Amino acid sequence: MADLRQGALQKAYQVYVGTDSAEVSRGKGDAWETDKVSSAAGLVAYNGKTLNAFTKYYWRVDVWDKEDVRSSSAVTSFETGMGTMRNWQGTWITDEHDMKTKPAPYFRKVFEAGKKIKSARAYIAVAGLYELSINGQKIGNHRLDPMYTRFDRRNLYVTYDVTAQLQSGKNAIGVLLGNGWYNHQSTAVWDFDKAPWRNRPTFCLDLRITYEDGSVETVQSDRSWKSSLSPVIFNSIYTAEHYDARLEQDGWNTVNFDDAKWKGVIIRSSPSNNIVSQSMQPVRNVLEIPATTFVKFNDTAYHYNLGRNISGVSKITVKGEAGTVIRLRHAERLYDNGRVDLSNIDQHYRPVGTEDPYQTDIFILSGKGEETFMPKFNYKGFQYVEVKASKPIKLAKQNLVGYFMHSDVEPIGNISTSNPVVNKIWSATNASYLSNLFGYPTDCPQREKNGWTGDAQIAIETGLYSFDGITIYEKWLADHRDEQQPNGVLPSIIPTNGWGYEWGNGPDWTSTIAVIPWNIYLFYGDSKILSDNYDNIKRYVDHIDEQYPTGLTTWGLGDWVPVKSKSPVELTSSAYYFADATILSKTAAILGKTADAEKYEKLAQKIKNAVNAKYLNPTTNLYGAGTQTELSVPLYWGLVPADVKSQVAANLAKRVEFDKFHLDVGLLGTKAILNALGQNGYTDVAYKVASQEDFPSWGWWIVNGATTLYENWNIKSKYDISLNHIMFGEIGAWLYKGIGGIFPDETQPGFKNVLLKPHFVPNLQNYESSHTGPYGKITSSWRRKGKGVSYTAVVPANSTATIYFPVTAGQQVYLSNKVVSTTDFAVDTKLYKVEAGTYTFEIK
Ligand code: BGC
Repeated sequence: MADLRQGALQKAYQVYVGTDSAEVSRGKGDAWETDKVSSAAGLVAYNGKTLNAFTKYYWRVDVWDKEDVRSSSAVTSFETGMGTMRNWQGTWITDEHDMKTKPAPYFRKVFEAGKKIKSARAYIAVAGLYELSINGQKIGNHRLDPMYTRFDRRNLYVTYDVTAQLQSGKNAIGVLLGNGWYNHQSTAVWDFDKAPWRNRPTFCLDLRITYEDGSVETVQSDRSWKSSLSPVIFNSIYTAEHYDARLEQDGWNTVNFDDAKWKGVIIRSSPSNNIVSQSMQPVRNVLEIPATTFVKFNDTAYHYNLGRNISGVSKITVKGEAGTVIRLRHAERLYDNGRVDLSNIDQHYRPVGTEDPYQTDIFILSGKGEETFMPKFNYKGFQYVEVKASKPIKLAKQNLVGYFMHSDVEPIGNISTSNPVVNKIWSATNASYLSNLFGYPTDCPQREKNGWTGDAQIAIETGLYSFDGITIYEKWLADHRDEQQPNGVLPSIIPTNGWGYEWGNGPDWTSTIAVIPWNIYLFYGDSKILSDNYDNIKRYVDHIDEQYPTGLTTWGLGDWVPVKSKSPVELTSSAYYFADATILSKTAAILGKTADAEKYEKLAQKIKNAVNAKYLNPTTNLYGAGTQTELSVPLYWGLVPADVKSQVAANLAKRVEFDKFHLDVGLLGTKAILNALGQNGYTDVAYKVASQEDFPSWGWWIVNGATTLYENWNIKSKYDISLNHIMFGEIGAWLYKGIGGIFPDETQPGFKNVLLKPHFVPNLQNYESSHTGPYGKITSSWRRKGKGVSYTAVVPANSTATIYFPVTAGQQVYLSNKVVSTTDFAVDTKLYKVEAGTYTFEIK
């Protein structure tokens, strides 16, 4: 509801879904038509007739506002896809080459569209990567499609409206296939070259044409297609792409091209028995980034600096002699002499020979004037590109640009403060989050590109506050279900070829199975992701219980890459195990599974008791040796008994002071520390830590020039020092939670009720945060005014908020110059409930 009035709400709704747009606009829906339902629900699941495949449905929603006035949405549409696998006409095909063959294959097919075309759709399923073209035009702007799945269990197909690209009469379809993760030819420690699914890429395509007379014709992949090798002479998702422009075949994907020399195709079995629609935001070239500086070493060597670290590709435009070999090396760092340094990102690479240099594209010129190259089937993590040519070439600053690529999720959050370093930390966090979103969350875009579970569970809130990422996680949870062993075990990287079932996959990492659905539920208010994954969470928790009946588990990696102090793995892993059991119990209650709700609540209690019996010292109120991680993890995950919580929190604050208000945590402690302080009355301490600018801190990276988050607090570290990791990224979420205080309300998820717990931290003059949830844009912002603070909250239509004002002794909260009658919530906190609207309070 776009209704800015105070108290705006929805009294009732009515939904129409039908195949005739005119009928729907008249208030009739032949597929689904509800009554006028008295309800404020913002999310209602479709409950009409079974939807048919290949059908366009129109829909409209009417709502009645607080004055019972009805308004209607525009008539909008969606279209169904294949519906069931049985609707595929095509067959999986590939060329005659084997998986070791380096050049990427071209496929083409010419067909006749005999009648006047009304509409046309292309459905393409691929094991590997593809670029589809019709009559010489590339279809769509997706990159690296389809997204990576466990290819022998689930394959994704992509749908395009290609009506505009087709013509009556003859048409040509062209397909270029890349390897992606399906045919990993590079060799590294994770053995993706030995993946059980590995094979020469293959595809299945249906081009479904509907003619004006209502008849339907499907042009499909079959034996009639032809194939040839392309100028993409090598492509590896992991390392780079090599392109020989001398091998270009002009017009290969157009009707009149002479394909007499082309070969036939072979039929292949379907890579899996589960081909489903890719229902998610695609990867795109989201941002073009020009070079900020440019150096000419000599007439065969140049250097470009993009000014920021990104995930993506570079594009070079150059003129030179035929056969000139240009090498483009991509790196995050430079040696002192200005040459690129790849030593922080290539150490897990195990090359056989020298033909596949790391993060190095190779472009061989055709000599036909100005030529451009940008890889189609690879991406990298980099800021610098060093260009080396086998013969002299002339390059200028504008001859190379970078493209920041990632899953193109919509930005829905904003943070802006009076501290420029904090603002830069937030931007760097977003840059690393996006650099690690390629249809699944990754650890880093250069060294690994692995779907490390731990990094992703840490970053879930950071992602969801700032980006509308639900579709990526729905897909990734399906990847989890594909990978889960019958006994419940998950691998540490998802998807995987089999690596990671034996290392790194304890609850501190693979709790993704519980933590991610739970957060999606909190942010979007949709319980579907909970029911979709319920059995999987349960199997997972049961497995830990079977293996570790005492309630304590030592399974895990622990507080990865800490500053200095090490904390016991058993404590941190058991905390995650406790979180999983708790989420499972709450989920059971939400889904109406009462017996399970009780059972797992008891289990959670058992874990909690075991942890506290072993680690909590009742005399000192310290956990273990009292490191930052040991104190903040139990606080954050809710393990600390209520009666000693404030003492434990005070001990944490003391410890942080002892550590000179600097971090002494690794990956797990980073998730907990700022929240554990802030939620227990020490936001000022948390902010001190969060805004530090010397070692070790986020700000230390920033003042040293970082535009992304690093893998190591120590910039000079010899290992674990990728410069684009999201694993220390919880600060992104904390800037919304800790200072703006925007939280979803577990009892009314999806921000139906918003919790606002702002903190007016010293040293900030002003602060603004906003997050667009399912009901609209929520704002929490404040600025200092004399001795007081002016606080503005915006609560979207059809939602409410509970505001917890921080006050000091004698302070009052005013609205329109009148004292607001608040409730005392806790010491120094006044509670006030508001309906939708914009409010500016003065706290003085
Ligand atoms: C990755 C991490 C990951 C870790 C697991 C590293 O190589 O880059 O981010 O979580 O391994 O220990």
